[in-house]
Amino acid sequence: MTDRYAVIGNPVAHSRSPEIHGQFAAQTGQRISYERLLAPLDGFWASVEHFRAQGGCGLNVTVPFKLQAFEYAQRRSERAQAAGALNTLVFGDEQVYGDNTDGVGMVRDITGRLQVPLDGSSILIAGAGGAARGVLLPLLQAGARCVVVANRTESKALELAQIADDSRVIGCGFEALTANRAAGDEFDVVINATSTGLSDAAPPLPDDCYRAARLAYDMVYGARPTRFMQRAIELGCSNVSDGLGMLVEQAAESFRIWRGVMPETEPVYLRLRESLALA
Ligand code: ATR
Repeated sequence: MTDRYAVIGNPVAHSRSPEIHGQFAAQTGQRISYERLLAPLDGFWASVEHFRAQGGCGLNVTVPFKLQAFEYAQRRSERAQAAGALNTLVFGDEQVYGDNTDGVGMVRDITGRLQVPLDGSSILIAGAGGAARGVLLPLLQAGARCVVVANRTESKALELAQIADDSRVIGCGFEALTANRAAGDEFDVVINATSTGLSDAAPPLPDDCYRAARLAYDMVYGARPTRFMQRAIELGCSNVSDGLGMLVEQAAESFRIWRGVMPETEPVYLRLRESLALA
């Protein structure tokens, strides 16, 4: 019997998850199938029910359904609870379990593949939407000394800091960043969690935010460095990365949750990077 999995989203045609999970399955000898599931924008619930009725074992969830998936799950991990959204569903005999592997995927990419320690670090996150919220708890659990969440709409950054309920998290607007650093605060890691990349722009961070950064990390990925990465390089940050490694690591964590075996991520990452460059 082949166990069935899928990624559900709208749109979903661009998703790399089927090839990633296909490679994980081949590597670990797991007999699974993994497909793309395009759900109508108003039809997430019905599509999931249909997939389950056909014997589906689990789903990855992508835009715009991560919040609805959160509602759908009957039991959730702590990190999913903190994120308020989830990207992994597991269909048990009795209950639907939900997890969010995005944050741990990013932390593993940064500390493992990129070899940048987060323990004791000062982190700046640009953006306070779902992407930022999804990574906050795993960054704190990785030992961050301080996480500043800066956002165009300051109130959303303040709200996120309040939700995090941890004295290490500070919310502010972009303008306040210069004043903060005048007090001697430097950022070891700068993360772009805004959606500015979609419009080929960079978040309006003050230039000196990158001054001491050991890494500028964009959560989105592409064939070329994003505007945010380009800006960081221009301002003297020698270590920049997009979020392709995060994509592979979050998938590996979902695979582990479903199959109980952790696949090797590096060969899958390298192959994806190569195919992106050729695209
Ligand atoms: P996601 O789930 O990708 O986080 P989202 O919840 O819509 O998407 O959040 C988008 C984030 O990008 C927000 O922090 C948004 O800032 P606002 O809260 O002020 O809207 C940020 N963002 C989008 N376009 C931006 C821009 N041009 N400049 C700065 N920030 C931007």
